[in-house]
Amino acid sequence: GTERPTIGEGVEVVVVSNRQPYRHSWGDNGIEVDRPTGGLTAGLDTVVRRIEGSWIAWGDGDADAEAVDEHDRVSVPPDAEDGYPLRRVWLTEDQVDGYYYGFSNRVLWPICHGALTRVHSESEYWEAYEAVNERFADAVGERVGRGDVVWLQDYHFGLLPQMLRSRVPEDVLVTHFWHIPWPGWDTFRACPHGSEVLRGLLGNDLFVVHTERYRQNFLDCVEAAIPDAVVDRAAGRVFHEDGVTTVEAYPLGVDTERILELATDGDADERWRRIRSRYGIGEGVRVGVGVDRLDYTKGIPQRIDAVERLLERHPECRGTFTLVQIGSESRSRIPAYRELQTAVVEGVNRVNARFRTDDWRPIVYTTDRLSDRELYTLYRNADVGVVSPIRDGMNLVAQEYVAAQADGNGVLVLSRQAGAHDLIGEDAVSITPQDTDEFAGALHAALTMPEERRRERMGALVETCRSFDTEVWIEDVLGSVARLREEGHGG
Ligand code: F6P
Repeated sequence: GTERPTIGEGVEVVVVSNRQPYRHSWGDNGIEVDRPTGGLTAGLDTVVRRIEGSWIAWGDGDADAEAVDEHDRVSVPPDAEDGYPLRRVWLTEDQVDGYYYGFSNRVLWPICHGALTRVHSESEYWEAYEAVNERFADAVGERVGRGDVVWLQDYHFGLLPQMLRSRVPEDVLVTHFWHIPWPGWDTFRACPHGSEVLRGLLGNDLFVVHTERYRQNFLDCVEAAIPDAVVDRAAGRVFHEDGVTTVEAYPLGVDTERILELATDGDADERWRRIRSRYGIGEGVRVGVGVDRLDYTKGIPQRIDAVERLLERHPECRGTFTLVQIGSESRSRIPAYRELQTAVVEGVNRVNARFRTDDWRPIVYTTDRLSDRELYTLYRNADVGVVSPIRDGMNLVAQEYVAAQADGNGVLVLSRQAGAHDLIGEDAVSITPQDTDEFAGALHAALTMPEERRRERMGALVETCRSFDTEVWIEDVLGSVARLREEGHGG
């Protein structure tokens, strides 16, 4: 650990996200707490404890909402000293349909990932998105006091920054981290209510994206869509009728230390043997690993096609290579997500039916959730990490694979379309996921690369991932916040 980043005496940082870091339900011993999955909330949880902040989120999945709301101080274990207040915002079914499944995930998500054919917009989506952003703005307004910092997360809250301006004291600093790509203007101009979203985001004092490319894209969109805004490219600042918005690029990393520890601690070798035996992976079979939310942006069907092509072109890989693909169900009320789930199962079945033998399968596909310890053990021992999104803001799986490898000699096969590629692409084997021949060739190159070369590349990858891990990201964001406060921004 490093020292606790400070923003100022008595200043509270209020984090706002769609997903909550903990879920509550009634159990035998009163209220029980469990952690929903997801890298974003787990990473931020550590931050909020360290900076003694508080958190506001949608109370999704909480049983008996009213009663549980009383229990608004979170700590796991229950009496830990570093717990923090968690305020839940309860939404109606219609609000969830319009705000989460509608405008967030059928408009903004596909727009920002350049998937224009998936965009579907209804006026109810927008109305619910506005209404829910208002609900959150009220909740934040009730929580913050003079000089506090509001730290918003992601595309669910495009209107919230501007809405906050009339609800919080002038010296409250509002910052926002956008976890998904920011597309170029030629794509964003297709976004229904796009200018309203941009104006909403200009309510921020500090708007942060993962990469320099997204930062330039955002500034391009502001220039094109907001006539009264003046963009200072060199300073990365936007001057507009309500003030100044600074735009920064700080890539989100992973907790490299924790991942390595969990990948290697205790009886790690025995864990790996159990994982292999559970998936029926025989001795001498080399392993590729893919782990994704079941989303059409992740390039999973393309990955399956590449494995099939590999086995066609390189018969020596039959019986000696298996891809372990772990998928977690996501956003299933949206047709495109259900279609993707079906396509993955059909693809896996097709390739397995074509090549499988009595004691070997080309692809092991499961939707079971692994514990972090098991997952990182799998990463540590897999010969190839396969990360092939069609488009991805960052992709933390690529970084987790590297972090778990540490002194290892695995090879990362990485899509050029992942934000992570801007940072660590040089030492990965790069692919364009739709180019099946290239993808299959990359898998083959990874499997035949000499050990010395693999070690060299993994060593470089590990070093780079450490240079922007979670700690660095937090220091970058909070460092910028502190500087802006000194300059008198906020309000
Ligand atoms: O990183 C993008 C993101 O939408 C996060 O905000 C979220 O935690 C994650 O993907 C999972 O998606 P969802 O919250 O919709 O299940």
